[in-house]
Amino acid sequence: MDSILVKGNGPLKGQIPIAGAKNTCLKLMCASLLSEEPLTLTNVPRLSDVATLSTLLESLGVEIGRLNEGGTLAFSASNLTSHLAHYDMVRKLRASFNVLGPLIGRTGEAVVSLPGGCAIGARAVDFHLTGLEKLGAKVELKDGYVHASGDLKGAEIEFPFPSVGATENIMCASVLAKGTTVIKNAAREPDTKALADCLIAMGADIEGAGTETMVVRGVDRLRGTTHRVITDRIELGTYMTAPGIAGGEVECLGGRRDLLAAFCDKMEEAGLEITETDLGLKVRHPGGRLKAVDVATAPFPGFPTDLQAQFMAMMCFAEGTSVLEETIFENRFMHAPELIRMGANIEVAGGTATVHGVEKMKGAPVMATDLRASVSLILAGMAAEGETQVNRVYHLDRGYERLEEKLSNVGALIERVDGV
Ligand code: UD1
Repeated sequence: MDSILVKGNGPLKGQIPIAGAKNTCLKLMCASLLSEEPLTLTNVPRLSDVATLSTLLESLGVEIGRLNEGGTLAFSASNLTSHLAHYDMVRKLRASFNVLGPLIGRTGEAVVSLPGGCAIGARAVDFHLTGLEKLGAKVELKDGYVHASGDLKGAEIEFPFPSVGATENIMCASVLAKGTTVIKNAAREPDTKALADCLIAMGADIEGAGTETMVVRGVDRLRGTTHRVITDRIELGTYMTAPGIAGGEVECLGGRRDLLAAFCDKMEEAGLEITETDLGLKVRHPGGRLKAVDVATAPFPGFPTDLQAQFMAMMCFAEGTSVLEETIFENRFMHAPELIRMGANIEVAGGTATVHGVEKMKGAPVMATDLRASVSLILAGMAAEGETQVNRVYHLDRGYERLEEKLSNVGALIERVDGV
């Protein structure tokens, strides 16, 4: 298994191009099932998650054309040959559960494996299933699979929590349903809004995406379109913390403050300078130590849970004590023990981590446990003394395109080592 070696190497300087958003892209790919006409996506990130979902879509009969080394993908679902999403696929990639809504919406039938838990928590799918039942689907759980069938009819659905995945699955299921669907307490993430924008371009009638209440009026069919995947706000936030940890100045190309306003506010509170430029967002470390700040994760427009680990890595070096509260997933501090192995001073109690900033950390062999946890260890390694070896980097390849290249271009000492 490959690992990544990173050495503390002083301040960074330069530009980092931010790729298309992984999470948005995966849901857009699922949405290609909704039309007989091709959906072409540009600005597609070159990630193993995209490859995994492509394999699943191909198993359903979707033909995929690849251009521009995978940066442009054309999906043609004119001839669906299966409505079964197998466990082997869904367990590798939870987002593939989001073929459920498009499949039943288009064909009236879907059999999709339950995703099961994952490293960061149990991650139930009850909101997805109750939502489908409200739309009139018959939903049964058999042998670890969801069997959903029926012609869908518009309904009013109120989620107990603004789940990103459930909002997107139900939105996709309802665009071809008869009548009007109202989704209350909907997720407001830019990713969800971008998915709605693509569906609208395909002919869907959706109002209120990006707000708490969405209204979807069913249409008879969707057409094809070409859609550019939005900037990955989590990749953006990740690279914004890099100068916060290693020092220096980095311009994130394609970055936009509105994608991450709450996160940018906290970065500034810690002492970083953020400037909007013609090309993106520039982050500058003023020198000295950053200030410790408290953070609680929350659904958009709050502080994203997917940036909590990276922010924690930054707070490890800050002056003072910061309290990080994780409110979205119950088990999302697995990077803390690894950071402690590198010399961080962190106490975890339930959903709260208290980080007492230290002046120095030391490189160590550490284990990546999930995508965002792994990158937080690399970031910490960029400011630790000596060498940090991050193992199990396949997690990183799921969500960060050309990470070593992007970071070494701004001055980091980082390399991938082939494993046995
Ligand atoms: C998506 C993102 C993930 C991000 C998360 C929160 C993708 C591929 N992944 O995950 O990177 O961390 O949003 O911003 O887009 N819940 C239930 N029942 C449900 C659905 C959710 O109890 O049916 C709970 C979850 O267990 C979790 C919370 O709601 O505690 C939020 O989950 P959700 O917003 O659905 O996250 P995902 O869509 O899985």
